[in-house]
Amino acid sequence: MKALLLFGLVAVALAGTTRFEGDKVFRLKPVLHEHASLIKKLATSIQVDFWRPEHHELVTAGVDVDIRVPAMYLDMVSTALLQSGMEHEILIEDVQVAVDAQVHSGASAKAHSYTKYNTWDTIQSWIETISSSNADMVSQEVIGKTYEGRPMTVLKIGKKSSSTKPAIFMDCGFHAREWISPAFCQWFVKEALSTYGSDPAMTSLLNQMDVFVLPVFNIDGYEYSHKSDRMWRKTRSKRSGTSCIGADPNRNFNAGWCTVGASSNPCSDTYCGSAPESEIEAKNLADFIRRNKSVIMAYLTVHSYSQLLLFPYSYTYQLAADHAELLKVAKGASAALSSLYGTQYTSGPGAATIYPAAGGSDDWAYDLGVKYAYTFELRDTGRYGFLLPESQIQPTCEETMLAVKYIAAHVQNNL
Ligand code: ARG
Ligand code: ZN
Repeated sequence: MKALLLFGLVAVALAGTTRFEGDKVFRLKPVLHEHASLIKKLATSIQVDFWRPEHHELVTAGVDVDIRVPAMYLDMVSTALLQSGMEHEILIEDVQVAVDAQVHSGASAKAHSYTKYNTWDTIQSWIETISSSNADMVSQEVIGKTYEGRPMTVLKIGKKSSSTKPAIFMDCGFHAREWISPAFCQWFVKEALSTYGSDPAMTSLLNQMDVFVLPVFNIDGYEYSHKSDRMWRKTRSKRSGTSCIGADPNRNFNAGWCTVGASSNPCSDTYCGSAPESEIEAKNLADFIRRNKSVIMAYLTVHSYSQLLLFPYSYTYQLAADHAELLKVAKGASAALSSLYGTQYTSGPGAATIYPAAGGSDDWAYDLGVKYAYTFELRDTGRYGFLLPESQIQPTCEETMLAVKYIAAHVQNNL
């Protein structure tokens, strides 16, 4: 009887939650054109979740592909891989096991921790607490609401001043399932506030500049990835004519919008939206940056995974006017990052370094005039991918701090 009751409770708790029992994550190594076409064929005939690249149209021979294959398609995919002779390995044996390792229950679920993947509710109360206990250094601005009505709060961190200070803008959580990203923004805020006054670089930075931090950009998606589908990527907006939900916010900005590396199919994970800034979250962010354009000197946006430090352009192979400087700073930041634990980053313009993909916020900010526009792709390189264990939050955030501080120091020295 007890067992039956327990079973009933578990079943209720799980209802409406996507399960990944037996799903595997494969790394495919296409070397021939035939291999690439097989992957594309699989993508259109069965439901496979592209982890890297984000869309099957971006698959080419010579570039590894990470995909999650639902359990029911494993036999079919294994047979196809065997027949094609394509090399591959299994990165994750059972996706649900890896997902479960990151979900907290009971009292610890609600408590905020810098070494945990906090839910939106927890992050929201953390925003309140950290602001009120550091009132001399932090101010809040709600830049608008998400599609589902959640407030997008930007924290301004810096020594208060009567004159307007130049600033750096950083956002996290564009893509819902990239949980290490919001964890980094929280870490950054804590670290900035706790080292101000003791660390000379941080002290000087926050005396002279402000840092705007948007801890979670795609709050609706982030919440959905916690409550319903761990592998959700997009926003949660609805549109007429389709039952598919959301758009890829990093394809929704007005920078070569939907010309390349993006899909016009609302059901795709890289759907560019119905128009530039059709997603309210993108519009709120763009409006804020346009409003503060004269003070924002740098735009940093934090994603995962792949260990990359990218800069414009991604919508074209053309080099940015500031290419040489952007590259030099990226190389310096990557070297600073790797000095801590040896983590290797690749840096370069998005299009040439990974693939062309239009509509990104980095390209948009750069074309608006924000010169230091960088996209971070944090750990790892695919061993765990989006399911990076919580034990890696601290080292990842520590090393990333070094890169962000390197960029910030360069910006500060070039005001
Ligand atoms: N993985 C990121 C994405 O696809 C890379 C972003 C690079 N920048 C860009 N504008 N595509 O969204
Ligand atoms: Zn992303």
